[in-house]
Amino acid sequence: MNEELVIPNHIGIIMDGNGRWAQERGMIRTMGHKTAVGTLKKLCVHMADMGVKYASLYAFSTENFKRDIKEVDFLMNLFIESFKKEFTFLKEKKVRVVFSGRREPLPEKVLEAMDQIVEETKEYSDLVLNICLNYGSHAEIVDMTKKVCEMYQDGEISLDDINEEFIQKNMYQDLPPLDYVIRTSGELRLSNFMMYQASYAEFYFPDVYFPDFTPEEFDKAIEVFQKRNRRFGGIKNEVKSS
Ligand code: IPE
Ligand code: IPE
Ligand code: MG
Repeated sequence: MNEELVIPNHIGIIMDGNGRWAQERGMIRTMGHKTAVGTLKKLCVHMADMGVKYASLYAFSTENFKRDIKEVDFLMNLFIESFKKEFTFLKEKKVRVVFSGRREPLPEKVLEAMDQIVEETKEYSDLVLNICLNYGSHAEIVDMTKKVCEMYQDGEISLDDINEEFIQKNMYQDLPPLDYVIRTSGELRLSNFMMYQASYAEFYFPDVYFPDFTPEEFDKAIEVFQKRNRRFGGIKNEVKSS
């Protein structure tokens, strides 16, 4: 790839298809989740090397608690293990980790591992990894609304303080809007992922399952992004009208 590439400032990745990846290989679904951790590590290093500034990763939705308890438990333990052991590359690449999502009803040990990784990486800023864990857009809007109402009730803000910038600041994380949303596995939906932040994002739906989403597959996504013509409701940006 050449140096002229436009790298999306904020990329969202809906890491889907782990279960099918495993099942197609005659393995149990959880093996797909385990393999996905290795894929994710390589992808994060690659994004950091490419100069991506923000990446939001959908790891577990508020709806994923509907799954079999054994799969949920496996995932919770995988989160703990991964945050503790697999994320050593973060320091080398100066990656900061933040989380989006509801803490309730995540197990205490998961919360501890999350808090630890946030604390250990808080000084870094080359790439911000926003891990969406027990995340749902609907829950985020409900939680943001409650927070803002409390501020109003306590007299900290007036109605005139509520504008789009203020709303963004009071989401789980104050991050710039998504430029590019990638969902692996061929499914064509958001599944409650960052609806507010994705209002002007471009979308890309590769057919590969997430465990096969290699840095090469990521590069293909970036190539596709180059051809998108973003207008944000205005007119094509090359020729400015006076
Ligand atoms: C995504 O893979 C990971 C999580 C939702 C935690 P899936 O587990 O949804 O895999 P498929 O979509 O069933 O293949
Ligand atoms: C979305 O995938 C959630 C994550 C990737 C973490 P799902 O597999 O849960 O979404 P649906 O159920 O197919 O819409
Ligand atoms: Mg899925």
